[in-house]
Amino acid sequence: MVYAVEINNVHKRFKNVHALRGLSLNVERGITYGLLGPNGSGKTTLIRAIIGLLTPDSGEVRVLGTKMPNKAILSRIGYMTQQTALYDDLTVRQNVEFFAVVGGLNGDVRAAVDEAIALVDLTDRANSRVRELSGGMKQRCSLAVALVHHPDVLLLDEPTVGVDPQLRVQFWQHFRQLNAQGVTLIVSSHVMDEAERCDRLGFLRGGLLLAEGTASELRQRAGTATLEAAFLRFADAAVSSSQSPVASS
Ligand SMILES: Nc1ncnc2c1ncn2[C@@H]1O[C@H](COP(=O)(O)OP(=O)(O)OP(=O)(O)O)[C@@H](O)[C@H]1O
Ligand SMILES: [Mg+2]
Repeated sequence: MVYAVEINNVHKRFKNVHALRGLSLNVERGITYGLLGPNGSGKTTLIRAIIGLLTPDSGEVRVLGTKMPNKAILSRIGYMTQQTALYDDLTVRQNVEFFAVVGGLNGDVRAAVDEAIALVDLTDRANSRVRELSGGMKQRCSLAVALVHHPDVLLLDEPTVGVDPQLRVQFWQHFRQLNAQGVTLIVSSHVMDEAERCDRLGFLRGGLLLAEGTASELRQRAGTATLEAAFLRFADAAVSSSQSPVASS
């Protein structure tokens, strides 16, 4: 099987911070994979390594079978950054159009742009400059920008922060539709009810995968009623173990 994403023993250091410590993980195609972990656990670093924005010190990342970093495959990947990366002086429509073209969208750009803007419920604000939007609206615009070029793999770094509950539900419905079309989503989150919606989850801590599986598998393995408690159980087990925590599959 060609996985959407394969991460094999990846290490990344920033000066004295060992942000990824031999992390390995495979993500099947067409699923939503959730990355969960506290601040500084390596979620953003891992996502940046997947898209090829940073090169691991050692280890290997493959996206759709291609070793990263690789520019040719970027048109098949969408990335929503944790901090919005939009052009403040451009309108919503201009931003989405720009990223559609940069992302190498083939076919009807206008239709794809309209569709992406409608999806995030910004049609009424399509002609507003980004700097005039509320925080949640900027977040919504960032999602439109990430998916307008119809990527096969979509990396979303805390996509629903600041998004109201109603729209959050709509986002997740759309993520499901994308999965049904074969798109693979990797979503980082701190929100446990969102984690429940993911097909599989990876618990990250200190640049390592503490545990991996479906939400119910993780709860069962930890012997806990909630995912939150399961995370703490795996984290405690890793601390008390003299060995490095190892992901089981
Ligand atoms: N460019 C950088 N230079 C130096 N250190 C960095 C850099 N990027 C990340 N780090 C460090 O690597 C570690 C992992 O950071 P990362 O941003 O991946 O965490 P995260 O899990 O995304 O956290 P959060 O939930 O706060 O977004 C942290 O200790 C962070 O300070
Ligand atoms: Mg982060």
